[in-house]
Amino acid sequence: MARQGFAVTAMDFAPAGLEKAKRLAVEMGTTLHTVEGDINQFLLTEPVDLLYSIGALQYIHHENRAKQFKQWQECTAPAGLHVLFAFTRHPEVEIAPDWETVHTEEMIFDCQSSGIPHRHAARILVSRKS
Ligand SMILES: C[S@@+](CC[C@H](N)C(=O)[O-])C[C@H]1O[C@@H](n2cnc3c(N)ncnc32)[C@H](O)[C@@H]1O
Repeated sequence: MARQGFAVTAMDFAPAGLEKAKRLAVEMGTTLHTVEGDINQFLLTEPVDLLYSIGALQYIHHENRAKQFKQWQECTAPAGLHVLFAFTRHPEVEIAPDWETVHTEEMIFDCQSSGIPHRHAARILVSRKS
């Protein structure tokens, strides 16, 4: 993205990761701004066109998720994008060797909560401990 002319801010917990990003930027003849911090506290300070995350969302503690996503959504420019790669659980990927997946089911359903009609996607997973 930096090579394509975008102003990029890269954030990570690990100084080594940020040093690697800076080194790669130099090798590619571009620059980026880095922020060392915890994704649980990371706030955008000006509207962004793109928020991109690969493999880091799982580090947001459950109780911080709504707050963090709300701030990032509010600080995204109109027509801006969030591109998120997240690790998930999947029925075909074993959670732990001593658990058997008994049943799994995916669904999409209509909801009227808050008075605004919308839809949810959800999955039911039943697993049994051996
Ligand atoms: C799977 S790696 C992905 C790294 C990078 N996004 C990439 O694509 O190369 C996960 C990254 O999350 C960082 N990380 C772990 N805990 C974090 C936290 N609480 N806040 C911010 N970054 C964290 C790790 O240092 C690591 O660089």
